[in-house]
Amino acid sequence: MLNSITTSLLLASAVFAQSSTVSYPEDVIATGTMGTTNPPEPTTGTAINQTSDARLLSINAIDDWCIFAPPELQDIADSETYEVAWCTQSRNDARVIPDGTITGVSLLKTDMYVQIMGYGNLTQLNIPAGDWGGELDPHGAYGSGNPIGGNVTTNITADGQTINVAEWMLYVSYEMFCFRACTWSNETYGAAAIVLLTGFSPTDELDEMGCQFVMPGNYDFNGTFETCEADVAYPPGWYVEGVSGDTTSFSSFAQYWTGVVDGVTYTAGDTVTPSTVQSTPSSSNCQTVPTISNGIALASLGVSGSDSGSASATGSAATAGATGSSGSSSGSSGSSSASSGSSNGAVVARPGIQAGLSEGITLVSMLAAVAAIGIFH
Ligand SMILES: *[C@@H]1O[C@H](CO)[C@@H](O)[C@H](O)[C@H]1NC(C)=O
Ligand SMILES: *[C@@H]1O[C@H](CO)[C@@H](O)[C@H](O)[C@H]1NC(C)=O
Ligand SMILES: *[C@@H]1O[C@H](CO)[C@@H](O)[C@H](O)[C@H]1NC(C)=O
Ligand SMILES: *[C@@H]1O[C@H](CO)[C@@H](O)[C@H](O)[C@H]1NC(C)=O
Ligand SMILES: *[C@@H]1O[C@H](CO)[C@@H](O)[C@H](O)[C@H]1NC(C)=O
Ligand SMILES: *[C@@H]1O[C@H](CO)[C@@H](O)[C@H](O)[C@H]1NC(C)=O
Repeated sequence: MLNSITTSLLLASAVFAQSSTVSYPEDVIATGTMGTTNPPEPTTGTAINQTSDARLLSINAIDDWCIFAPPELQDIADSETYEVAWCTQSRNDARVIPDGTITGVSLLKTDMYVQIMGYGNLTQLNIPAGDWGGELDPHGAYGSGNPIGGNVTTNITADGQTINVAEWMLYVSYEMFCFRACTWSNETYGAAAIVLLTGFSPTDELDEMGCQFVMPGNYDFNGTFETCEADVAYPPGWYVEGVSGDTTSFSSFAQYWTGVVDGVTYTAGDTVTPSTVQSTPSSSNCQTVPTISNGIALASLGVSGSDSGSASATGSAATAGATGSSGSSSGSSGSSSASSGSSNGAVVARPGIQAGLSEGITLVSMLAAVAAIGIFH
């Protein structure tokens, strides 16, 4: 729902042809140089190289997007710093996702971010079967990104201009992924908050929560390739605490973490895990396409990055039918009530990116530990 911004832009672009007339909020646009293995800018039609180390993602359309996955068969958790780009098309010098890999995609366009969720057999992208995966973002343990030198662009922006996004997050496992890139921000919702909890600690406070928690939406799209407009979600982990006049106050949840930093033991996060998100944003105006196949016969080129099977097994939706639109999924609001459990010695299991919200976590109080997060700010 690129509403007023788009409207004013359309008017403006009639006058100033190609030039940018939108000034993006400062925290939205990446600064600094592109990773050394990347082309200087997003480029379509680059040569197919299934051993490429390029790390530039572009998220432009239902059939034109990329994700990070391992260069060779390896758990995500062990290859976070050197994942490489895999794209649905030959672009950005990156590897090509073999046709047939992806079984469903939902691309959400919102005023403040673009979100893409997908199902597929991601063992074809070197993720071991059964690997519940992990979380990638532009910060990482070395402050230079997971993967290091990773970059992200999108043209799903207020004015259609391609931007290098400063803040993004990708959760990927062997059978699904979810990705969000921030394209706009405001005083309440900063770019960093839109893609993760405000502030970054050594804990990556929500990296063990599931896709439905950090990027809520309708996840019932396997077998479909859809592009929808959607409302902006509350930033991950934010809960409405109170409304007073025009002001809404929030509490924020962070997963429990305890560990040693420079010889000092810290504890951060909440020992209570909320049972649900604040709300699931509504989506509307969904357009579906029957396939996102690229028709590239990797196997016959002798460069199969994976599946030796037929290159013509396209990523088609099971449901036939040409482009069309489907109804909206209505938003629902959840409560921030915590689930119950025992009172201490909280241990965070690694539930994987799509597990439930509170598995394996013991609980005390949702508010108590918020102050502890301040240690890292
Ligand atoms: C493919 O990418 C690898 C890693 O960047 C590089 O060493 C190799 O030369 C590339 N192959 C071609 C044909 O460009
Ligand atoms: C996933 O792809 C692999 C080849 O990479 C294949 O062996 C396996 O059977 C596929 N799994 C499913 C569930 O289709
Ligand atoms: C590329 O990613 C690096 C971090 O790996 C970041 O410092 C830089 O700003 C990004 N550049 C662009 C143009 O996105
Ligand atoms: C963004 O890129 C997609 C394909 O990569 C293209 O179809 C679309 O027209 C582009 N959007 C704009 C506004 O240029
Ligand atoms: C920022 O955007 C959010 C989501 O659209 C909105 O609820 C909030 O009121 C906005 N804040 C400001 C200061 O405009
Ligand atoms: C998505 O659909 C495919 C094809 O029907 C199926 O093999 C796969 O298990 C489904 N993925 C999930 C996570 O349910």
